[in-house]
Amino acid sequence: MSTTLIKGGTVVSSVSAFYADVLIEDDRIKDVADAIPVEAADRVLDAAGMYVLPGGIDVHTHLDMPFGGTTSSDDFETGTRAAAFGGTTTIIDFAIQPKGTRMRDALDTWWRKADGKACIDYGLHMIVTDLPDAGLEDMDSLVGEGVASFKLFMAYPGVLMVDDATIFKALSRTASNGALICMHAENGSVIDVIVQQALAEGKRAPIYHAMTRPTRAESEAVHRAIALAEMSGAPVYIVHLSSEDALNQVREARDRGVPVFAETCPQYLLLSIEELARPDFEGAKYVFTPPLREKENLEKLWTGLAQDHLQVVSTDHCPFCFQDQKALGKDDFTKIPNGGPGIENRLQLIHHHGVNMGRISLNRFVELVSTTPAKLFGLYPRKGEIAIGSDADVVIWDAGAEHLISAATHHMRVDYSMFEGFAVKGNAKTVISRGEIIVEGGLFRGRAGRGQYLRREARGGAWQ
Ligand code: URP
Ligand code: ZN
Ligand code: ZN
Repeated sequence: MSTTLIKGGTVVSSVSAFYADVLIEDDRIKDVADAIPVEAADRVLDAAGMYVLPGGIDVHTHLDMPFGGTTSSDDFETGTRAAAFGGTTTIIDFAIQPKGTRMRDALDTWWRKADGKACIDYGLHMIVTDLPDAGLEDMDSLVGEGVASFKLFMAYPGVLMVDDATIFKALSRTASNGALICMHAENGSVIDVIVQQALAEGKRAPIYHAMTRPTRAESEAVHRAIALAEMSGAPVYIVHLSSEDALNQVREARDRGVPVFAETCPQYLLLSIEELARPDFEGAKYVFTPPLREKENLEKLWTGLAQDHLQVVSTDHCPFCFQDQKALGKDDFTKIPNGGPGIENRLQLIHHHGVNMGRISLNRFVELVSTTPAKLFGLYPRKGEIAIGSDADVVIWDAGAEHLISAATHHMRVDYSMFEGFAVKGNAKTVISRGEIIVEGGLFRGRAGRGQYLRREARGGAWQ
């Protein structure tokens, strides 16, 4: 048995912040109390002046993912190690069912990708690309394997997109098996027509990626996704929401009491469409879907987070190197692999631009990056809370630490940062995953392969 005492910090949850010591026994939290004697533990960590937070949970990552003719540049080892440096101790990544195959095979493939590599705990969503009757049964059996959520695409026709009938069938199945459908909501068929027009007019630079994907294409799909969910009686979770237009659809539905949840990502809160117009093809670094929007949207999304119209901040971490991967689209923006890096910087950016700038409270920060992700995706109260019996996933957070985000110092395996030169105040000092210190003093002390697969419970958003 090993015991660790975190002494003298302020324990922060989604609803409170109080001085307390945290005693960890092996991989669990044993006690949260005032003045736990140091003799109670083999090791004492001084957290005076620090916040003690539940480990971050990033429910939207793409590690080692084949996409756009290449593969995302972080694998489960490099990606989860980078996540740990930023205070994230759990991810939920996406397995992909290739069309015409069984989802179970895709689950095995993704387990193999993570096996021996993951440095932190991980769950898996399943991306559904087709759904014959046997597929509906497969959804139930995947729920039995802890895959408590499925992602469907309303975009990328011919690749990942599914039709409304498939979406309705999948939603209806989750109404009975309790899983949560995650929706990539953009009208892919219409976008495809606009893209073909642009190409015919010789518009080939990265900026046209954004110009061919209007916010209406997002809000129409969000509206449709919600309508289909209502007809099926299931909740729905909108991934990577990027615009005010789309946010309005979510807010209107939630105001009517519909169980709709949505996430946004740091890039949609902090960056805007101008990035795609950078010279020398540098705009390609910001090509992902949905695209970056006009500046007016950013503050609306922050307000959405503050007012609970949006419930989660994830990263949609899907890195491709600028030099040899983004370059695939040098002469044609449609060939630029879609995705950007961010798994390491989520807590830093949301703490700095959210809490420090007065847009959200410290409690809301914890709720957005840890507690609600755990609740919605079947991990609570094992994860997402510092409470007796929970996994000892703990971040000692130094709110005064200054950090300059840069590709020169980050740990993600990618040759650029979307947030290059952003100065943030607040950073993870010590990161503990199931009782093991995995980051301390700027050094990685964990080990590839120590991360465990998380069998999640299908609760259909019932914790919200
Ligand atoms: O451009 C993006 N977002 N790439 C990752 C795949 C997805 O749609 O989430
Ligand atoms: Zn997506
Ligand atoms: Zn994604």
